[in-house]
This record gives sequence, C-alpha cells and structure tokens, in this order.
Amino acid sequence: MALSIIILAAGQGTRMRSSKPKVLHKLAEKSLLEHVVQTASLLAKDNIHVVYGHGGEQLLEELSDLSVKWVLQEEQLGTGHAVAQAMDPIPPEDLVLILYGDVPLISRDTLESLIKAGIRGGLGLLTVRLENPAGYGRILRDAAGEVTRIVEEKDATEEEKIVSEVNTGMMCVDCDKLAGWLNQLENNNAQGEFYLTDIIEMAVADGLQVNTVMAASEIEVMGINDRVQLAEMERNYQLMQAHYLMQQGVTLKDPMRFDLRGDLSIGTDVTIDVNVVLEGKVQIGNNVNIGANTVISDSVIADDVTILQNCLIDKSQVGKGTKIGPFARLRPDTVLKENVHVGNFVEIKKTVVDNGSKVNHLSYIGDAEVGKDVNIGAGTITCNYDGANKFKTIIGDGAFIGSDTQLVAPVTVGAGATLGAGTTLTHDATAEKLTISRARQTSIDGWKRPVKKVTP
Ligand code: UD1
Ligand code: CA
Repeated sequence: MALSIIILAAGQGTRMRSSKPKVLHKLAEKSLLEHVVQTASLLAKDNIHVVYGHGGEQLLEELSDLSVKWVLQEEQLGTGHAVAQAMDPIPPEDLVLILYGDVPLISRDTLESLIKAGIRGGLGLLTVRLENPAGYGRILRDAAGEVTRIVEEKDATEEEKIVSEVNTGMMCVDCDKLAGWLNQLENNNAQGEFYLTDIIEMAVADGLQVNTVMAASEIEVMGINDRVQLAEMERNYQLMQAHYLMQQGVTLKDPMRFDLRGDLSIGTDVTIDVNVVLEGKVQIGNNVNIGANTVISDSVIADDVTILQNCLIDKSQVGKGTKIGPFARLRPDTVLKENVHVGNFVEIKKTVVDNGSKVNHLSYIGDAEVGKDVNIGAGTITCNYDGANKFKTIIGDGAFIGSDTQLVAPVTVGAGATLGAGTTLTHDATAEKLTISRARQTSIDGWKRPVKKVTP
C-alpha cells in the first residue's frame, strides 16, 4: 500500500504581519515548508501534495526546486476543504498522511508511528497533552476511553474545554474512506468552515477505530503563528542540533550560543566556542578548534585546524594544521593548503596558498597563487584590480615579501626571491634575488623643524 502525503499550507498567517506567506519564513535559514517537505520525503518520495493559497506566486517561485505537487486552494474555507482539493489524483487504495506547512519539527519517528496507527481499517490521529490547551481542538473520548470526536475551541462547552488532550491536526487514514467523509462535510459551525476534524465522528460512525499516537514532545507538534513563536522555535531547533552534535563528540562551550543553519558534517574532538555560526554546507574534520564569534559558510575545514576568534570564512577550503585569525576573512575560492598561517586583519580572496606559507598581519591577497613556505610581511597588498579588470599575482616557493609591499598585478615573484620592505612591484621579481623599489634614505643637515608663532 502506497503512502500519499498532503501538506496544508494555504493559510495567510496574518499574525506574522508579513508580505510573504507564513510557510516561507525561515527556521535555521530553511523555510518552514521545506522542513516539513524534507521530513515527508523520508516517508514518501514522489507523492507529496502541498495545498497552497496565500502568496502563491511567491511560494512557487521561491520553492520551485521542491519535488512536490502543488495544489491551489483558491479560497481558504477550512482544513477539510483544503484536504479535499488535493484528493483527486491520489489513488483510492493509498494511505493518506496529513501534515502542516507551519509545523516544521515533526519527526520521522512520530510519523512512522502515526502511519502504523493508520494502517488499513483504522484512523491514526496524532494528539498531545498541553498544560494550556486553549485554542486547540479537544479530543473527546467515551467512558471506555475510545475517541468519539474532536470539538474545536470555538464550538466547545466549558466542560469540553477542560480536556487537555488536543488535536495536532496530523492524521493518517485510507484515501477512499477519507474522500467519502470529506464529501459529507458541512460548515455549520462557529467559524463557518469545513473542519477536517469533523471526519473523526464520521469515522467512528462507520465503525472505525481511532488510534491515537501521543507526540513525543510538544516541540515537534508546535505550529508557528507569529514571530515570537518563530524565534522560540529557532532556539528549540538550535538546541536540538546542538545536543545532537555534542552526542556525536563535539564540544560546544555553550549550546545556547551555537547556530547551525545548514548541513554540517563534523569529526570528533572539535571544540566550538560561543557565538559561532555555521551556514550552508560545512565540512569540519577532527581536532579542530573554532574561536568565539566566527562565521563559516559553505566551506571545508580539514583536521587539526585552529581558527581563532572573529573570523569569517566563506566558500573556502582550509587544509590540515592551518591556523587562522583572529579577525581573518577568507572570501570565496580561497584554498589554504597544509600548515598555512593567516593572521589578524588579513583578507584573502580567490587565492591558493600552498603548504607552510604565512600571511600573518594586515594584508590583502586576491587573485593570487602563493607557493610553499612563502613569508608575506605585514601590510602586503596585491593590487589586483585596475578599475575594470582583475589580474593575477604569482609568488614562487620560498619567496620573502617585505612589509608594506604592493604587488601590482599581473606580476610574478620568482622562487626564493626577496622583496625589500616598502617595495611597489610593477615588474616581475627575479628568483633568488633581492628586489627593492624605494628612494634611498638620506638625512638633511641644517634642516629646521617649523615652529608655531607665539602671539603675545
Ligand atoms: C486546527 C484544527 C484543530 C487543531 C489545530 C492544531 C481544524 C478544524 N482544527 O485548528 O483541531 O487543534 O489545527 O494547530 O482542522 N489551512 C489551509 N486552508 C484552509 C484552512 C487552513 O491550508 O482553508 C491550513 C493553515 O495554513 C494551517 C492549518 O491548515 O497551516 C491549520 O489551519 P488553522 O486555521 O490554523 O486551524 P486551527 O484553527 O489552528
Ligand atoms: Ca493553527
């Protein structure tokens, strides 16, 4: 029996006070809807239907890569109406699982239990017990403890409102049965909507067993309605990720001050100090130390690397044993090979720095190839840009670049060459020689420093 999944995402999310539809808001840099779709795809590869409405164009544009079937619900007439829109193409013999685009942290494990509860003949219903159930549909049971129906808050009596077991909205049931019940829904209730929840009573009337599954945690069934809840959810999610990483052998100095916004693969014995942000696809090896306030995006960090405080590393590769920072910035296409040192206030872009080379202070190296065991002195600048074009600087193995040097590209420094401090290099520097371009130092006899006039 195949599984089809329907994700409801047509609501506007008025309380977000936003020009974009609620499900496009992001949790750890990924839209709420993508979180749900990602979990759903672990269960049903090709049969995911997303019911959308508000902000439709924006949704289709931003999430065009998602492999789901989009179903438009033109008017939001209720959750039952929303599900009905998606039913047509689903084979009657399928099992249907209903999820929500604004409930991003539902887990695969819980959904697998829900699917088991919904296997042919039964109806699986995901519920949760809340200390404060206000606003939710309440699960009503008979004396024997069997579910009889769900009553929405706005239609509930005072006595029913006391019930603390609530409907999460997620359920799993046979497609043909579901289709039949959806056809019979009416909207004569407090909100004038076609409630999906009314099918529970119909299922019971048809002699079906309602099998409830209790969510493992409140967090995984929590929906997001405003930006306060979004921020709370972000912290919950970050803490979940932090705990997972610590269990994998990563030391986090403070799990409350760690943010992972993407996919991380990480080795063991990595220590991460506070306020580190990892974005996009990041790969980190073993025995890596990352200092406070560092941001790493889409980069690969090899084993035994030390990154001191306040570094920015974007789309770069950092080789084994390399030391970076504090206050270093690696811009896209930087490749640092093994045992390289990049020190404070150094910016490197689109450059390969080979084994054992050092750029320790206050330098800009862009569009360059730096050989092995090169020493680049403080304040060195590759002048790679003439206002229109970019040019390359090549520095051979073992070269020594004196401080405050400008390398006016295109230019090549031969292997083993030495550049005197303060050189402005406009022609290639010969290998193994000292090249220097600066006025000879003189001291002027009899020179008087100007003095201020003193007015009496
Ligand atoms: C619904 C449930 C309630 C449950 C609660 C859990 C019903 C009638 N009630 O109530 O029992 O406790 O969720 O959060 O189902 N949507 C559409 N199209 C529509 C209406 C809604 O796509 O026409 C989507 C919304 O975008 C949202 C979800 O369905 O993601 C729930 O809709 P909402 O109006 O928030 O339902 P609740 O009143 O919270
Ligand atoms: Ca809701």
